[in-house]
Amino acid sequence: MDTAALRANARRHLGPHFTRKEAWWSDDLPVFVRGEGCHLYDSDNRRFLDGLSGLFCVNIGHGRSDIVAAAGKQMEQLPYASNWGSAHPPAIEAATLIAELAPEGLGTTFFVNSGSEAVETALKFARQYHRSQGQPGRTKFISREFAYHGTTLGALSVTAVPKIREPFQPLLPGVRQVPNTIGYTGDCGPADQLDCVRAIEQAIIEEGPDTVAAVFAEPVQNGRGALVPPDGYWSQLREICDRYGVLLVADEVICSFGRLGRWFGSELVGADPDLITFAKGSTSGYSPLGGVLVRDSLVATLFDSPLGGSFTHGATWGGHPVSTAVAVANITAMRDEKALDNVARMGPVLHDGLRRLAGAHRCVKDVRGTGLFYAVELTANAETGSELTEDEARHVLQDVLPAAFRRTGVLLRGDDRGATMIMISPPLISDGDVISELLNGVDGMLTDIEAAIPG
Ligand SMILES: Cc1ncc(COP(=O)(O)O)c(C=O)c1O
Repeated sequence: MDTAALRANARRHLGPHFTRKEAWWSDDLPVFVRGEGCHLYDSDNRRFLDGLSGLFCVNIGHGRSDIVAAAGKQMEQLPYASNWGSAHPPAIEAATLIAELAPEGLGTTFFVNSGSEAVETALKFARQYHRSQGQPGRTKFISREFAYHGTTLGALSVTAVPKIREPFQPLLPGVRQVPNTIGYTGDCGPADQLDCVRAIEQAIIEEGPDTVAAVFAEPVQNGRGALVPPDGYWSQLREICDRYGVLLVADEVICSFGRLGRWFGSELVGADPDLITFAKGSTSGYSPLGGVLVRDSLVATLFDSPLGGSFTHGATWGGHPVSTAVAVANITAMRDEKALDNVARMGPVLHDGLRRLAGAHRCVKDVRGTGLFYAVELTANAETGSELTEDEARHVLQDVLPAAFRRTGVLLRGDDRGATMIMISPPLISDGDVISELLNGVDGMLTDIEAAIPG
């Protein structure tokens, strides 16, 4: 089928996710047919750099025949068995491998199928855990402004992006949004004195400490643009949660499996969470999988409690044999091929290159991030302090950037969660040539923005 026919059928039959009608109906709608390493090929056989690793997920890169073989072998041997009252080798092996790589004390994984479902599962675990301890009043949650935690109604309730919450109100009651860490990174003085820390304790006190179940936060927050927290931030979160008996959840749907140069981002930022949600990089996108890693002592307490006994939650596909076999193959390959060492080598090259571009382009307000996870925040003119108007921001995100992705052959993502930004998250196997190609693409995009927006 040629590109025009593929586009026509997509318009007619395929429901797009988070996409405006004009973009879906455009003659430029990309149709990707093949992936190889860090690159994608469209239906006209044009090559693009996959600078966002799909959606922050293709960590090991495209076209890995070893992962395909692991999936095929599993399909032949046992395409399906559940984790309800029975177990199977790939899920056992994946959970064991993940426990070996996880922070100390977090050794039990409940597998699900996506990041949203992982967050949903963490919300439910927190509530049921507290109930099993005779505290059924602990039903509320705290999350941070502009954090994205997924789209199912529970996960959406802790998602703090106004535009995507608004159409679905009312959401879960008792969810409180607190400031994120924008403006604070590195050494900002004693962490317990920071406004973004004190606001969390204040929110718990105002809500009533006996009513709060859990605090949700990402090690590096994607919404609002790759926010790396200030030193000591996560130790304070731990202390505050301990003080009030609240569970601490690190949402690592993006930050785990090497994105920040560690198996889990918690390790990088000094987090000691009770639960970790993960998804994307666990299979590098070769098959859908998500999960919640839970502190062993909490699992034991819930299971042993007369009010608990089991986690009253599950899904047909949770811990699917093919997805968990893919996770084992993917994580094993990342480990054997030292993908994390590559992030340690290439992350600073990306960081320095983006800083250089920030110095050369008036439309860059800030560059944030770590590992292979960055955001470039845009403005009209950083030298004069002139900001993008609402119309200009819309023009950049809806017209200028999509055209610039096509022109430069580098695929990234424009983002409007709290600011106008370009998100960058290349595969963890990116070498020096790929990072140069990426930086040239960003340079071209910034040039296009400046041509379109008078400074
Ligand atoms: C931090 C975080 N949590 C949850 C989700 C939801 O994951 P999914 O799209 O797999 O449902 C995402 C998705 O980008 C995410 O970045």
